[in-house]
Amino acid sequence: MNESPAVPLPNRRDFLRTTGKIAAASALAGVAIPHVHGAESNTINIALVGAGGRGTGAANNAMSMKNGGPVKLVSMADVFDNRLKSSYEGLKGQHADKVAVTDDKKFIGFDAYKQAMDALKPGDIVILATPPAFRWVQFSYAIQKGLNVFMEKPVTVDGPTSRRMFDLAKQADAKNLKVGVGLMCRHCRMRQDLYKRIQDGQIGDVVAMRAYRMHGPVGSAFSEARKPDENETLYQIRRFHSFLWASGGCFSDFYIHNIDETCWMKNAWPVEAQASGGRHYRGNNVDQNFDNYSVEYTFADGAKFFFYGRTMPGVHDQFASYAHGAKGLAVISSEGHWPSKARIYSGQKMSNANITWRATKEMEGPTMDPYVLEWEDLVSAIRNNTPYNEVERGVKASLVTSMGRMAAHTGQIVTYDDILNSDHEFAPGLDKITLESPAPLQANADGKYPVPMPGITRKREY
Ligand SMILES: NC(=O)c1ccc[n+]([C@@H]2O[C@H](COP(=O)([O-])OP(=O)(O)OC[C@H]3O[C@@H](n4cnc5c(N)ncnc54)[C@H](O)[C@@H]3O)[C@@H](O)[C@H]2O)c1
Repeated sequence: MNESPAVPLPNRRDFLRTTGKIAAASALAGVAIPHVHGAESNTINIALVGAGGRGTGAANNAMSMKNGGPVKLVSMADVFDNRLKSSYEGLKGQHADKVAVTDDKKFIGFDAYKQAMDALKPGDIVILATPPAFRWVQFSYAIQKGLNVFMEKPVTVDGPTSRRMFDLAKQADAKNLKVGVGLMCRHCRMRQDLYKRIQDGQIGDVVAMRAYRMHGPVGSAFSEARKPDENETLYQIRRFHSFLWASGGCFSDFYIHNIDETCWMKNAWPVEAQASGGRHYRGNNVDQNFDNYSVEYTFADGAKFFFYGRTMPGVHDQFASYAHGAKGLAVISSEGHWPSKARIYSGQKMSNANITWRATKEMEGPTMDPYVLEWEDLVSAIRNNTPYNEVERGVKASLVTSMGRMAAHTGQIVTYDDILNSDHEFAPGLDKITLESPAPLQANADGKYPVPMPGITRKREY
């Protein structure tokens, strides 16, 4: 099946910024890592499940580590053979010596993830980079097989699967598995330094935060109707940013990074959200997304975090996160995920004269790509057998993101407990899905899908 996006693709600069495809050298150059993996071989084998843009990027990042020790990509799985083929060819072109995926280790279909993981041995790593709806299904099997995991964000899109993932996180711990979650900004050395400075009180009490992710339509956020000859489920998966069951929509998929990094600096998760948003002029688009979202998150101490998300052509672009303290202002990120350009100002005015701290060249240099550092950190934990499981934190970030989205989609105040205990599972039974199953979302006679109606549909998002 061929990709034919109905919307303009992001430009190369945006793409590199947000997919982590830049190969970078390690930040841990020179650090000796004990060879504790595997008795007879020191090579960690990797399986890639979801060979799309980010999965290919993550595999590339894994094979670009300078100090992670030997790794090999040995199996791949996808539901589209053209995605798997182009991913394989791209990776083989870049890492000929590390890509060892023979034709009988390339698997297509809804069970392909099992076959790709069956090609690994306990202690190897599986990359889970499908749309997030499948995360709990594939994570369950990885735990069963005793595999370490790198999974992309978001890790859940609704309450019931979040509760399931919390439970799976404990099962992974019980088996001493190491699990990384693709909120790579947490591995950015510059943000880590900023976090310490904020906790040390360098900007005073954090009283307000704000973040922006505003740009034109990217990925599959806007979708035109399915072509009659395309399988409905595959169409929804291919256009996954358009469907809340698959991705949590553009809100969860795009905005989680800014929401997570901002809450990290506050060292807390918000307890409730109120929000607004709407659809403006959408022509023939049938997706479930709103065009713009404004969320007011409230923390237990009363501090506020204002988040602005917009996915719309022809409007002002902004991509940044800020924390305001009683004494100063911290820039958490500006112009994208990396380099973060983090800095601290005295007072609230962003003028050069007020800068009291900013990155050193080493912190923002080419060896500091957080998409590679998150791999260095995961593999170091595997080889040194140190505790490493980011799932609980990833679920909380996913839940807080879903809380803001649900507040906008229902027009109600939504608390953390509301979203956590919600009984609306967007796509039950995904572990048993086949091409013949009814698609998780049904269109009406005009080929349109239910869109959220704040104030009318109040308990569920659609
Ligand atoms: N950390 C980041 O900065 C970052 C950037 C981009 C994407 N992501 C995340 O990565 C994930 C994938 O996003 P993407 O942009 O690569 O999308 P994509 O559509 O390019 O890739 C997803 C791939 O998964 C495949 N797939 C879907 N369902 C599957 C299933 N059940 N079994 C096997 N394969 C399946 C698709 O065919 C596709 O090839 C999302 O969760 C997204 O949020 C993270």
